[in-house]
Amino acid sequence: MGCGTVGTEVLRLLQDQPEEFAARTGAPVQVTGVAVRRPHKHPEVPEHLITTDATALVEGDVDVVVELIGGIEPARSLLLTALKSGKSVVTANKALLAEYGSELYAAADAAGADIYFEAAVAGAIPLLRPLRESLAGDRINRVMGIVNGTTNYILSAMDSTGAGYSETLDEAGRLGYAEADPTADVDGFDAAAKAAILASLAFHTRVTATDVHREGISAVSPGDIAAARSLDRTVKLLAICERVVDEDGTESVSARVHPAMIPRSHPLAGVGGAFNAVFVEAEAAGQLMFYGQGAGGAPTASAVLGDLVAVARNLVVAGKGPRESAHAQLPVRPMGGTPTRYHISLDVADKPGVLSQVAATFNEHDVSISVVRQQGRGDEASLVVVTHTAADAALKSTVDKIAQLEVVREVVSVMRVEGEPS
Ligand code: NDP
Ligand code: HSE
Repeated sequence: MGCGTVGTEVLRLLQDQPEEFAARTGAPVQVTGVAVRRPHKHPEVPEHLITTDATALVEGDVDVVVELIGGIEPARSLLLTALKSGKSVVTANKALLAEYGSELYAAADAAGADIYFEAAVAGAIPLLRPLRESLAGDRINRVMGIVNGTTNYILSAMDSTGAGYSETLDEAGRLGYAEADPTADVDGFDAAAKAAILASLAFHTRVTATDVHREGISAVSPGDIAAARSLDRTVKLLAICERVVDEDGTESVSARVHPAMIPRSHPLAGVGGAFNAVFVEAEAAGQLMFYGQGAGGAPTASAVLGDLVAVARNLVVAGKGPRESAHAQLPVRPMGGTPTRYHISLDVADKPGVLSQVAATFNEHDVSISVVRQQGRGDEASLVVVTHTAADAALKSTVDKIAQLEVVREVVSVMRVEGEPS
């Protein structure tokens, strides 16, 4: 179902090497039908396969349904119909999984069917299967990375060539990276859905997209990029999912998506274009890094086809893939209580007492300063402060208060800092 950027490539690759798929699976893999909205736009689909009736297709004589439509409806209803009648499902639909994942798992479980979704996070990169299966015996503490190709493509271009925001977004759309509605990418919805999926798998806890604190890149300015460069840092949109343990041992899960400054020496800083990269920190395994093409037709089709082979193999041996694992059910921590660090760049009056007023404001909010850099220019000065770790709410209130100081002419840039010792 769906024959757009990803579906076209899935169909092409399946039809290119049917014998290979049969050999790898242990039975022939045949395309029964291809559901689209506008059949006249699809000369690549053989006429006898194409249909606009997706419901009839999933209700028909098929073993596996591959959903590459995107969005919530009609994808949700179609997949529930498929699963309830025992048909296994492969989907790349992170928006749907992040909101209705549990409902889909339950339907699959009740009918003894499979649901696989490797392509939903980080395109071609094998990431979800390692979390779901390979690391199932370990304790994961943190998952952090770049999971949206479109915004990484835009930020990389802004950093390296100074290219404008909208022209780069148009280009990402032309290359097939952007979602049908690209605000899903730039406003962080796509990355937040992926963060919800990652956090759910990593911490055996149901985390939905609404549990994820979300900030996109539309407010990232050339000033932010320049401020980062002046400190040998770069700006990336990060998804960060972590297990937070309080002093009394209480555990919770924090899941957030926001732009952050990272040192240029950090491995994520070199991840350019539509590439994605994700770090996983597990207790026994230590640090793992997953890197590759995070968007685009063929890379995503690779992950979809891997799932299709896995599901077909299960069918051949009457087996089943992993079920939902949500036994831990840790509480989700609000963003305000999540420990973060800030980089704050200010234009201030260049006169005695300015630094002490700014420092006093940090002190009032119990926020400790790590780095201060001041540079005079005429009757103004540029003042850069990088904090130590503090509760995000305390950092935010500090910035709000600083912005009101008479000696502060402008808050030029405020951004969280990641990837360096706190
Ligand atoms: P496209 O918008 O390119 O394609 C969507 C397809 O769905 C089109 O062929 C469209 O038909 C079809 N469609 C829409 N509504 C219906 C309907 N009611 N019934 C039947 N078919 C319908 O999307 P993508 O290929 O980019 O994305 C597909 C999925 O993969 C999404 O969930 C996306 O988030 C995910 N994904 C995409 C990646 C990418 O890089 N593009 C990477 C990873 C995941 P028609 O062509 O006739 O309009
Ligand atoms: N729009 C998504 C991105 C596609 O840019 O990463 C891959 O999920």
